[in-house]
Amino acid sequence: MLVTLKEILAIAKERRIAVGSFNTPNLASLRAIIAAAEELDQPVILMHAQVHEEMGLCTMEEVAPIMLAAAKRASVPVCVHLDHGTDLAYIERGLALGFTGVMFDGSALSHEENFEKTKEAVRMAARTGASVEAEIGSMGAREGGNATDMECPESIYTDPDMAKRFVEETGIDALACAFGTVHGLYVKEPKLDFDRLAKIDSLVSVPLVMHGGSGVSVDDYRRVISLGISKINYYTYMSKAGAEAINGKTFTQYHDILKAATEAMKIDVANAIRVFSGL
Ligand code: 13P
Repeated sequence: MLVTLKEILAIAKERRIAVGSFNTPNLASLRAIIAAAEELDQPVILMHAQVHEEMGLCTMEEVAPIMLAAAKRASVPVCVHLDHGTDLAYIERGLALGFTGVMFDGSALSHEENFEKTKEAVRMAARTGASVEAEIGSMGAREGGNATDMECPESIYTDPDMAKRFVEETGIDALACAFGTVHGLYVKEPKLDFDRLAKIDSLVSVPLVMHGGSGVSVDDYRRVISLGISKINYYTYMSKAGAEAINGKTFTQYHDILKAATEAMKIDVANAIRVFSGL
């Protein structure tokens, strides 16, 4: 069943869980995510990232109708979300296609410009009923970033007082905050700033989002969920699981590669959903 970001995060808040939020740059990942969520009977968020279009993986126009059809058919609540939209024209295209959640990522802009453009994204989304996630502070490199560009200095972590102002002035439905996670493969164990997260949660009224959410320890997932994280963005380690399922093996048929990778991604996603849902 297709729901908005606001609706699915309300379920997360009520159940004190985090909803897993997974990128779908191909049909194999989309099928793996839906199968895992349905098997565990848990809500899930499907995400198309603007950067995946820029990497040539698939366009929003190609994938959105498939995401929406899968969400409507699903036996569990599913939000169809645009991940890291970095320009308002891209967000507008996503809203026209029917995304029920959009993230405007103005983290590379000045604070003033991020505030103004996020407010505009909220006005645009109000016209279709979609919800808006936005980010203040920065997670460093975006998806597709690799281990060498994953450093995220504390100076760009989310400032709790700024976060409060950002949420109040923009009217967003969910806040992505930076407190030590980064996108991509971790080359050393991430050190999360739990005190900062707790402070943000105490000041901010909307659900909090953790990006760079794959590759974190089970204890840290549990702790961030207890401190207000309601949405965990997860992609790199499911993609890695798919690659590992076919590495070193010999296939003669391409569809057998897809089947093996899909099954491995489903298992990885299901493990993540179990932890995020406290199962
Ligand atoms: P990972 O690279 O840790 O999987 O994070 C994905 C993400 O945050 C998408 O927005």
